Amino acid sequence: MSRWPVVCLVVAFCAAIACAPAPSAGRGGTADDPWVVGMSQSNLGEPWRVQMDADVRAAAAAQGNLRVVFKDAQNDSLAQRAQIEEFVEQRVDLVIISPNEAAPLTRPVAAAVRSGIPVIVLDREVQGDEYTAFIGADNVLIGRAAGRWLRERLGGQGRIVELKGLMTSTPGRDRNRGFLQGIAGEGGAGLEVVFSGEMQWLEPNARREMESALTTSTVINGVYAHNDPGAHGAWLAARAAGRERDMVFVGIDALPHEGQQYVRQGILDASFLYPTGGAEAIDMALALLRGETVAKRTVLGTRLFTKDNIERGGDEVAAEPEKAQP
Ligand code: FRU
Repeated sequence: MSRWPVVCLVVAFCAAIACAPAPSAGRGGTADDPWVVGMSQSNLGEPWRVQMDADVRAAAAAQGNLRVVFKDAQNDSLAQRAQIEEFVEQRVDLVIISPNEAAPLTRPVAAAVRSGIPVIVLDREVQGDEYTAFIGADNVLIGRAAGRWLRERLGGQGRIVELKGLMTSTPGRDRNRGFLQGIAGEGGAGLEVVFSGEMQWLEPNARREMESALTTSTVINGVYAHNDPGAHGAWLAARAAGRERDMVFVGIDALPHEGQQYVRQGILDASFLYPTGGAEAIDMALALLRGETVAKRTVLGTRLFTKDNIERGGDEVAAEPEKAQP
């Protein structure tokens, strides 16, 4: 009997369960002959991404049988595409990518997988399903929890400013969608988004957007920013206008030395944890390199930090979707 039906079945099976191609010949995954992992980071300009790389580095060092080559795409999707292509040319054993934007990185990731190199996509997503595995938190859920928190905190009445991340990256899109569902929940009919700006994850942009919001809106009750640098930028603008006490500020990331500190200092009223997934990516890389099967999607949890719960480490946010979803 021809071997092709069997080969086809194996290929179909591998595609369905994200199984790893055999690790490249000649590398043993030992301290003397470590596996090489290429890590392409969308930028290192923000503390959260520096933390992600640090988490990857620490987890890899604890293993001792893989070497990670780090690259920083500096928020440039084309540069990041070139980095993935380089990793493929160099025949690294595995690639981890935290993509700057979804569309421009989709094809390079698929090409790497087709060439036999497993690719773990971390935090921001690509389009379609031509990657080996995805690890990240549920940004719709986080956005919805932020919307619900603001709705409850404002008693369902108020004028809101939303400062969005880069909307060509999946967390920007998802955090917006979830938030609108969250504020539209029970008793939220009196809430209105009066200003919405795209600060592209960057604090100086958020500050500028908030200055415009303050000029056009004499009453603002709440600010929702898609990350903590954005929420902090908004707070700085409000403070410069002497209006920071008139409104509550909600952000996302909750790094111990950033968002959690802002909550302690009373700058932010709430911040939601966005785990980096760095350690999980290294655990998964090792499993794939050993030829083990991994889940196609691993969803990480989130926690809410406010001044009332921060000393006990925040509260877990339950994963159930809310009923009211427009
Ligand atoms: C850093 C960052 C984080 C945010 C994440 C979303 O670049 O903006 O602040 O939570 O990216 O991918």
